[in-house]
Amino acid sequence: MNVLKFAEKKIIKEKIVILTCYDYTTAKILNESPLDALLIGDSLAMTMHGFKATVMATLVMMELHTAAVYRGAPAKFIITDLPFLSYRQSLSRSVMAAQKLIQAGAQAIKLEGVAGNLSLIAHLVESGIPVMGHIGLTPQFIHTLGGYKVQGKTYVQAERLKQDALALEQVGCFAIVLECVPSQLAKEITTSVKIPTIGIGAGVDTDGQVLVLQDVLGLNLDFKPKFVNQFLNGKQLIRKAVDHYSHSVKHKEFPSDEHSY
Ligand code: KIV
Repeated sequence: MNVLKFAEKKIIKEKIVILTCYDYTTAKILNESPLDALLIGDSLAMTMHGFKATVMATLVMMELHTAAVYRGAPAKFIITDLPFLSYRQSLSRSVMAAQKLIQAGAQAIKLEGVAGNLSLIAHLVESGIPVMGHIGLTPQFIHTLGGYKVQGKTYVQAERLKQDALALEQVGCFAIVLECVPSQLAKEITTSVKIPTIGIGAGVDTDGQVLVLQDVLGLNLDFKPKFVNQFLNGKQLIRKAVDHYSHSVKHKEFPSDEHSY
């Protein structure tokens, strides 16, 4: 996969499948999967570091996790989130932040929101950095949105999101994440732009889907949004293995001769 394939997949109507990934071990497994891309999302502040919101992610965290994923999944297209406010202070600081993530191994960056970001996005694209947009529920705006809520439910909000998607396409984004928007609106946005839309809580008609890996594996014990399907009961499997190990040690079944020198 490379950035040009995103547009091609939209044309041939082949779904784009993305998962988040934050560490080397998991990246090695996902490197062999049919996934089209890995996202080092700023959700890592919550899933990997236990913070309550993505606004706690820092550029240093994003760089470290990107480098680890890149070492484990060199074959994958890697997209990394620019974290909260790292692209809102000045053009040079924003470019420097993007440079750090690209030099850590990302091939593209993602940033949230539209207002105030358009000239930066154009500048990054002109500088050789593919940019993925992100509209709808943008978790970096949690304190102004007043919680994790579906966006675009009113006519005015829906029209704004449609305009935002067109604006992102115009400044050169190669794809747009649509998070937590009504399915019908996501469908309309998807047909109105030539670049692919990647949905998360946006119904089945977007050009691709992205989810947080821990949600997919049933490892997120903190909350389960309506749009998540757990494809594995990871918590139960891990508990079973750990309980078995613990039992084996206590009953002197492990280590056996096979595991001893
Ligand atoms: O941070 C993240 O994981 C995201 C998503 C789109 C899942 O931005």
